Amino acid sequence: MVVLGIETSCDETAAAVVEETGDPLRPWRVKSSIIASQFEIHRQWGGVVPELSARQHIRDICGVVERALADAGVEAYDAIAVTQGPGLVGSLLVGLSFAKALAWAKSVPLFPVHHLAGHIESLVLEGGEMPLPAIVLVVSGGHTNLYRIEEVGVYELLGRTRDDAAGEAFDKVAKLLGLGYPGGPAIDLVAAHGDDRAVPFPKTKLTHADRNAPELPGRRDFSFSGLKTSVRRYVTARREERGLAPGDPLPRQHISDIAASFQRVVVETLLDQLFDAARSYGARSVGIAGGVSANSRLRADVAARGRSRGLQVFVPTLALSTDNAAMIAAAGLRRHRAGLESRLDIDADASLALRTQ
Ligand code: KG4
Ligand code: ZN
Repeated sequence: MVVLGIETSCDETAAAVVEETGDPLRPWRVKSSIIASQFEIHRQWGGVVPELSARQHIRDICGVVERALADAGVEAYDAIAVTQGPGLVGSLLVGLSFAKALAWAKSVPLFPVHHLAGHIESLVLEGGEMPLPAIVLVVSGGHTNLYRIEEVGVYELLGRTRDDAAGEAFDKVAKLLGLGYPGGPAIDLVAAHGDDRAVPFPKTKLTHADRNAPELPGRRDFSFSGLKTSVRRYVTARREERGLAPGDPLPRQHISDIAASFQRVVVETLLDQLFDAARSYGARSVGIAGGVSANSRLRADVAARGRSRGLQVFVPTLALSTDNAAMIAAAGLRRHRAGLESRLDIDADASLALRTQ
């Protein structure tokens, strides 16, 4: 089975061709993966502008799909998988409408895919099937979700952020430090030259249920807004001490130390929850997916902690950690395997919940 994947949930127009291998341990193979980034368009605004994103997807989608098919050397495919949500609704609609029309014209089934099921499938694309039970953390600009997988394709939400997503915290702190957008890679870079113990920023540990969402488990939630506020207060105090005018940067070494200290606290917070959940549920493997999994400190620390606990660790390559359509095609194949039916009467859902596939 060969699947064309389409992803337009945020600021990347992506298409990919993925096929089944027949190998139960490494079930999917990427034949092509094309990503048209809108980075340059949004950079000048300091963040993604939804309307501009949707319009650019319209301009790019035909060319991106054509290139994905040409690169894979295929003219026909057996099914289409497309991101149904969550994401920016105008952006989702472009990919979804395109995929529906194509599925109807080519008479092939259409599999709607949850964006985070796609991120989780990126782990399998990279490292093969995860030994179950597995605990997976999806960390991106919009999500910080911890899932338990006991059964293939069934995701139990163990916790999520109550305020900022981890990627969002990286982006906001980068802005405070004058490092530009997107903030994650910028902080990662300067933190490499900093002392990660220079500033004792606090770690937030949530032990109480979320009053605003009593239906959610709430035992392993995250919160990053307190940390962000601590960084803001610290930066403001240091600027005042030095009498800096607005626009004047702090000294380079100072910025690196703050970035490294902030990054250490985020990484420790994420990994404490991940490995604590792994221990409680007797997990055989753990994984980290989503844009923030590109973070070099997170990648190094998850590997080290996994090794010391005898757990198999799954982290996608950089190309698969940010938004792409190969992971969406693979998640579509997973749906197909589970016997879920193809549908043309689906709508984009900006806040789609993930439970299965
Ligand atoms: O998954 P993604 O590409 O898009 C969605 O949000 O769905 O994730 C983007 C997020 C941004 O917040 C970006 O700052 C963060 O991932 N990010 C990083 C790194 N690379 C990207 N955060 C920390 N370190 C990085 N190296
Ligand atoms: Zn994403």
